[in-house]
Amino acid sequence: MTHPLKHLLDNNQKWADGETAEDPDYFQRLSTHQNPEYLWIGCADSRVPANEIIGLDPGEVFVHRNVGNIVVHTDMNCLSVLQYAVDILKVKHIIVCGHYGCGGVIAAMENTQHGLIDNWLRHIKDICQKNKAEIDSVVDEHQKKARVCEINVREQVNNVCYTTIVQNAWLRGQTLTVHGWVYGLRDGLINDLGIMVNGPESLPETYRMSTKSTD
Ligand code: CO
Repeated sequence: MTHPLKHLLDNNQKWADGETAEDPDYFQRLSTHQNPEYLWIGCADSRVPANEIIGLDPGEVFVHRNVGNIVVHTDMNCLSVLQYAVDILKVKHIIVCGHYGCGGVIAAMENTQHGLIDNWLRHIKDICQKNKAEIDSVVDEHQKKARVCEINVREQVNNVCYTTIVQNAWLRGQTLTVHGWVYGLRDGLINDLGIMVNGPESLPETYRMSTKSTD
């Protein structure tokens, strides 16, 4: 029986051969270090691959993806990625990138059950409740869903900024900007929401740390 994933392994061989033909030291160089300037926090959706969308090669963007591009301050997975990116790799930009037509966002807007994932999507439901007036003001159903995708990104940018990791980076004078983008599945284009947070000044006082961490 042929290996069910033979085509993928063949693809890999071809890709590696091609890269090496173009640049014989390519993998040797990449194997010794990574120096990405960007952390991408995006949706797990197969149609939103971080590197391809922004035209970056391996080694140029550190990536964390989950359903709905959600940042939760008790999610050890996301926080570990964030800490490594900020404290060790010293990325200069964190990009939270949602996408229009996000199944996670749409599921969170509905009242039907989807199983375990509903507990994860509750984070988006909470955002819907918190921003109910703004969402209700959009009459068109298609536009309403698009707006929630944008609001979700805005809220997740805030969640990134409220983490002790980002707060401490700013307190020690590290250059770090957090951005909010929404990708369009239909045209492949990114809508920059114009959110750019590069310090604690614009954040609500509740979430602002005034002293450095002692650990
Ligand atoms: Co999605």
